[in-house]
Amino acid sequence: MENYDVLVIGSGGAGMRAALEAVRQEGLSVALMTKMFPTRSATGCAQGGINGALKNMDPADSLEKHSFDTVKGSDYLGDQDAIEYFVSQMPDAIRELDYFGVPFSRDSEGRIAQRNFGGASSPRTCFSADVTGHVILHTLYEQCLKHGVKMLTEWYLLQIVVKDGQLNGVVAYDMKGGRIVPLAAKAIVVATGGAGRIYWLRTTNPFTSTGDGMAACLDAGIALKDPEFVQFHPTGLAGTGILMSEASRGEGGYLLNNQGERFMARYAPEKMELATRDLVSQAIETEIKEGRGFGQGLSAYVQLDLRHLGREKILERLPQIRELAITFEQVDPIEQPIPIRPSCHYTMGGIDVLDYRTCTTAVTGVYAAGEAACVSIHGANRLGGNSLADIIAFGKFAGKGAADCARQRQVVEVASVDKAAKEWEDKFFLVTSRKTGATITGIRDRLAEIMWNNVGVFRTEAEMAAAITIVDQLIEEYQTVQVLDSNKVYNTIFVNYIELGSMLSVAKAVVLGALHRQESRGSHCRADFPERDDEGFLKHTLITKQTAGYNISYRPVVVTRYQPAERKY
Ligand code: FUM
Repeated sequence: MENYDVLVIGSGGAGMRAALEAVRQEGLSVALMTKMFPTRSATGCAQGGINGALKNMDPADSLEKHSFDTVKGSDYLGDQDAIEYFVSQMPDAIRELDYFGVPFSRDSEGRIAQRNFGGASSPRTCFSADVTGHVILHTLYEQCLKHGVKMLTEWYLLQIVVKDGQLNGVVAYDMKGGRIVPLAAKAIVVATGGAGRIYWLRTTNPFTSTGDGMAACLDAGIALKDPEFVQFHPTGLAGTGILMSEASRGEGGYLLNNQGERFMARYAPEKMELATRDLVSQAIETEIKEGRGFGQGLSAYVQLDLRHLGREKILERLPQIRELAITFEQVDPIEQPIPIRPSCHYTMGGIDVLDYRTCTTAVTGVYAAGEAACVSIHGANRLGGNSLADIIAFGKFAGKGAADCARQRQVVEVASVDKAAKEWEDKFFLVTSRKTGATITGIRDRLAEIMWNNVGVFRTEAEMAAAITIVDQLIEEYQTVQVLDSNKVYNTIFVNYIELGSMLSVAKAVVLGALHRQESRGSHCRADFPERDDEGFLKHTLITKQTAGYNISYRPVVVTRYQPAERKY
């Protein structure tokens, strides 16, 4: 059986940063397992930048300001001890990326350039044009190769094997080899990214963001924290949902309705287009609902106008934005406004991390980082630029935490991993030999539709109760879904089948959390409970999966020095 001290699952920025940290500890065997080629991970879609109070553009910026902006942005649901620690690590974490070779954009004096981003009180977002995630991902991949991380590429996680609260390993599907593989591991880091694809109709996320690690952790007895908080990025392309970076507004872009008005003046008179994402998305959807958008129904949109920035700035700072707008909307932002609408972007909630310094979870040996995890530093709404920051900071802590754990653990019980792998062999045969039943795409599309329509930017009790009924029905249909390909090698339909199961598991947690949170906070905006309720709901939701179904409980938010106050931008 394959056997590792530390096995990292997921090859985005968090996974690669974790693997790099673990392999730099002496004498540990470290592997990184990923369902795709590492440089195709979702981190590559992160465009606008990474936050850290380097003070290059504004000497008055500070760790305190970054902390407060993050706490306020989170609508006071972020844990303040974790936020302060995270923020304090970021300046050095960014300098370290610089030394690794990340080609940051520079100012005229050669310092790392920083731009304005939503909800930030200073230009604090370091960037590389509008391809920041892409260059960080490639640089980390080079570093992992240089330091000898073993890459298990196109290996898909099937199960985290846990016995008596202790990790023993995982079961994986090696697509190229056509094998179901048991892997023993003393510690794992789950860094499998978000679950934006539960909103398949409109998301900035790649097809691979299906919540695999979150679902596997739920099955392993680990809670999902705050799953109801799903971020809708204000500016997804109208037709496809593809990201038009917040950098486009950071560089000075406007939002316009069908009257040609900069409507953000009504919702956030001070910060305008650079208010937080929850508020800007809610404003856009309100404009559309009240008839001030363009187009109808799912095709409705408002405009993002960059024309006044001028050709030179657009080509220097936003070249990818321009290319994407031309390719997918046939609109050149140098000459025409871009049709945009909110698009599911990020899951603030995720695998419940118990200690922000190590990223440990409730199961000994299981660590989590990045979008798959919830520390929680983003609370009810993440600030743009704090996601790349999160994966770099917490990827490193998780890699160190897992390495320390692996050193302390002597043996794992491999028999349980072997047994689980044999059960997966049987399951593979069973599901790939079915000749009737629902289709994977049919269930996936109905899930996307109900999530977008009933658990989207605005939510009500009646809509979410209906969503629960439909999600439960889809989970039922999933039990007999057809896979239609029994080949063991590169069985991508089998992978889609597992991914769909993960999406259903996570979607149910999202709806349950949202239904029970009877208030509006950050991205969770309830028409029937429009106010934030700190007395009733200044607490984290925890959802676990038990034999009898899902269970919901709560944990208090950590408040250090920033008392909850009304948010105004
Ligand atoms: O808009 C963006 O460039 C996205 C950045 C982020 O989500 O942090």
